[in-house]
Amino acid sequence: MKVAIMGYGTIGSGVAEVLRVNQDQLQKKVGEPVTLKYVLDIRDSIPEDADKLINDFSIIENDEEIKLVVETMGGIHPAYEFVKSCLEKGKHVVTSNKALVDAFGSKLIGIAKEHHCNFYFEASVGGGIPVIRTIYHNYAGENLTEITGIMNGTTNFILTNMREKGADFDEVLAEAQRLGYAERDPSSDIDGFDTSRKTAILLSMASGNRCRHEDIYTEGIRNISKLDFEYAKELGMTIKLLGSVQQVEDKYFAYVVPMVVPKSDPLFSVDGVFNGIKIVGNCLGTTMLYGMGAGKLPTASAVVSDIIAAVRHQDEFQGIGWSEKMLEIEPMGSNAFTYLLRVEGTCEEIKDDLKEFFLEDSELKPVILNGRTDEFAFITDVMFESDFLDNLKAFEEKTGRRIIHYIRTEKEEN
Ligand code: HSE
Repeated sequence: MKVAIMGYGTIGSGVAEVLRVNQDQLQKKVGEPVTLKYVLDIRDSIPEDADKLINDFSIIENDEEIKLVVETMGGIHPAYEFVKSCLEKGKHVVTSNKALVDAFGSKLIGIAKEHHCNFYFEASVGGGIPVIRTIYHNYAGENLTEITGIMNGTTNFILTNMREKGADFDEVLAEAQRLGYAERDPSSDIDGFDTSRKTAILLSMASGNRCRHEDIYTEGIRNISKLDFEYAKELGMTIKLLGSVQQVEDKYFAYVVPMVVPKSDPLFSVDGVFNGIKIVGNCLGTTMLYGMGAGKLPTASAVVSDIIAAVRHQDEFQGIGWSEKMLEIEPMGSNAFTYLLRVEGTCEEIKDDLKEFFLEDSELKPVILNGRTDEFAFITDVMFESDFLDNLKAFEEKTGRRIIHYIRTEKEEN
């Protein structure tokens, strides 16, 4: 099969490298050579190390020998127009571009179906972790009740370092930027949008219907502080940025938020730039996929796995994906959490108020750091988010005490 790569950045050059280095192995696996014919790069300054380099998309579009196109350009335009045109010509497309899959996935899957080819996107979530195919193949017979993951290496690196070094967010972000782990404009990672795009793709996979990341409630990690970690540590817990999808009967819940995670959760130990994706099924129980969620070769490895699938299914539409029907996600207020609550002052004189607003079912177990009298923390009962927010306001109005910060908390599993 003759292949073209569109976009010769980190991932595109990684794909070219894997195709070159593992050429013999690939041929053995799929029974025919997989040959790179073109590399498209439309940037002004094109890299010198790519052979087969072209800068005119129409060459790929009009070359009937090209049966498969790898899209690693990133961004939505012109990636969408190029991919659409390839699929309309019956060329299989493999992409690592989560923004494209999130925005136009269902449309492109529909076009692939119409033209008897495939649109594959394994590398768009979890880099080298095979989560898309695992959901599609391995867990096809499961009723998936939850998928929760650490899906952003940059924020996980920052949070891990804040915990280990007792450092504040800005300090660790600056270090991550110095080391090249975080972008100079880190907003998409630290404000949670990268995770929410990946969460939207997983929700679409799990539900079979289309969902947009804009419809997923998203918070990033800018507000997480050194003191939040000190409280979490005191409780034997840590803080992670989680993207979560849950199904209860026919209702779907989804959010991206930083959460206090107990040791009993397998995601507790996913540190540094690693990703972990926990999948819960009605028969399966809990499982977790773990590995490198970003980087040149891990991501290229997922792209190459899609290339193999395309060669193996070159005459049929495989159907990995979801329909055009829009999924309705339940409002954030209808999710139930416990909350780590940091309250101004000491707890003695407001015990009854804390009980009234946050602790109807459980006892107050205050956490006080080094004898501090300016604030304390505790974990609330399980509460619906809408009730929690109402009670928080009512508590502040009644007592005149400020809630310094709250973080949603996972319950310790027994
Ligand atoms: N910026 C992303 C991360 C890259 O830090 O995980 C992979 O999508």
